[in-house]
Amino acid sequence: MTDRVVAGGRLDEDAQYEAGLRPRLLREYIGQGRVRDNLVVSIAAARGRGEALDHVLLYGPPGLGKTTLAYVIGNEMGVPVRATAGPVIEKAGDLAAMLTNLQPREVLFIDEIHRMSPAIEEILYPAMEDYELDIVIGQGPSARSVTVPRQTFTLIGATTRAGLLSAPLRARFGIVHRLDFYDERDIQEIVRRSAGILGVEIDAAAGLEIARRSRGTPRIANRLLRRVRDYAQVRADGRITVEVAHAALELLEVDDHGFDELDRRLLRTIIEKFSGGPVGINSLAAAIHEEKDAIEDIYEPFLIQAGFLDRTPRGRVATARAYEYLGLRAPEKGSRLW
Ligand code: ADE
Repeated sequence: MTDRVVAGGRLDEDAQYEAGLRPRLLREYIGQGRVRDNLVVSIAAARGRGEALDHVLLYGPPGLGKTTLAYVIGNEMGVPVRATAGPVIEKAGDLAAMLTNLQPREVLFIDEIHRMSPAIEEILYPAMEDYELDIVIGQGPSARSVTVPRQTFTLIGATTRAGLLSAPLRARFGIVHRLDFYDERDIQEIVRRSAGILGVEIDAAAGLEIARRSRGTPRIANRLLRRVRDYAQVRADGRITVEVAHAALELLEVDDHGFDELDRRLLRTIIEKFSGGPVGINSLAAAIHEEKDAIEDIYEPFLIQAGFLDRTPRGRVATARAYEYLGLRAPEKGSRLW
């Protein structure tokens, strides 16, 4: 995937900034009200009982704060967070080592948990359920399995694709929350907060301008804010006014909806090459030279939520709004087969 300025996924440049901008406590966390309210109760109850928090599964499109929330949960529980990711755990022993090193009630955070191998997943089952670890010692006929009791702990799993999780793994999470795209007001508030941390002056209208083009995604908002800050420093007096924001975003080629060339290419391809759809995901991926997973996880969710794309049983369909956006005429209703 190319480094799109409006990509929801984490780019290299984000890593060094995100740590500083991340809220540390639930009361600093903006948006996702339903998730936050539920977590306040779950955490207070677990703390009151002196127990580990139940295992938590967070899912939703990239950039909405799943990792942030995992660290917030750790802070609220007063325990450290040990972090890893599904594709990084290559051997069963790697995971066993992490599990044996955990202290009581600590958090083990596994990002991209859907990309863990099935053999490794199986180690997690007894660990999550009974806080036990089944370890095979020896090889061949003398191999035997021993069960090692473990400290209680909280597993926090994050995934962009809850549907790819195996049923037994999913069933072992007591707390499951989906993160949704943020509304503009919440993103505006996040931009205001981040600007404060970065020490840059920003007008409310400029914050809204950035928010409108951030695809409801805090990671994108924070990235755009940094680019606009650069522009303000080089081409203006350092303050982010609405004019500065406008000019900077224009230069970045991020349009009113936060769409970039790739979104436009995707919509245009459905309309021009596939008569508006329905088109199957594989054909679409081949036509725009993008990976199917990237389309499903990254590009589509926002286009669907913004009303430019529909997912039907027979494939993807461009909506009337997509035609309008590209300056094209939508076919009359009833003139197509679907
Ligand atoms: N930075 C990134 N995501 C945030 C959120 N949800 N609340 C506050 N600051 C954030």
